Amino acid sequence: MSRKRVAVLISGRGSNMAALIEAAKAKGYPAEIVLVLSNKADAGGLAIARAAGIATHVIDHIAFGKDRAAFDAAMQTVLAQHRIDIVCLAGFMRLLTPGFVARWPQRMLNIHPSLLPAFKGLDTHKRALEAGAKVHGATVHFVTAELDAGPIVVQAAVAVQKDDDEEALAARVLHQEHRIYPLALKLLAEGRIRVENGHCLVDGVPVPDTASLHPLT
Ligand code: GRF
Repeated sequence: MSRKRVAVLISGRGSNMAALIEAAKAKGYPAEIVLVLSNKADAGGLAIARAAGIATHVIDHIAFGKDRAAFDAAMQTVLAQHRIDIVCLAGFMRLLTPGFVARWPQRMLNIHPSLLPAFKGLDTHKRALEAGAKVHGATVHFVTAELDAGPIVVQAAVAVQKDDDEEALAARVLHQEHRIYPLALKLLAEGRIRVENGHCLVDGVPVPDTASLHPLT
């Protein structure tokens, strides 16, 4: 089976993008990162992508003013030009229009730094600490029109330590992000994910009740 062609959308440093690029180098990985698209010309991740020999493209959202649909249409054109199969949002800080999202049903993933549905939106680590959460983590989910609310593909949990500050907690969660995003993309690219009633099944199986990371593989 030919490898799925993946675009990673970024706005910043691109550490998750880098993790995906690294993972995709492995023999037998079912996807290749063929495009990195950013809404910011100064996104740090662009240099990493270029150094890896991956095509990059910048579409500055500022030029589109409030016209989100036009910005999304410009992205769609570039994605089509590169014959993209799967889109991975990785620190992409733009809200997407429902029309654009509808073009990528179960073909667009996002990584979010919390155990969804807890702490949707921004400042997740700060809010988890403020709430006194004992367990925090990261989620890879399908993108739907509602922010941070699509079917959950993979999650990883970390224990919140007594002396954690935002930075320490963020670093531990980020480490898990870099594990689960390549895993989720692999499962998707291999066609092993099915969504039933808004829940993801992997190989037809729901979450084993003992897992802190699902799936464990
Ligand atoms: C990550 O924490 C990700 O979960 C969130 O934005 C951050 C992006 O970091 N969506 P990076 O650009 O991948 O390093």
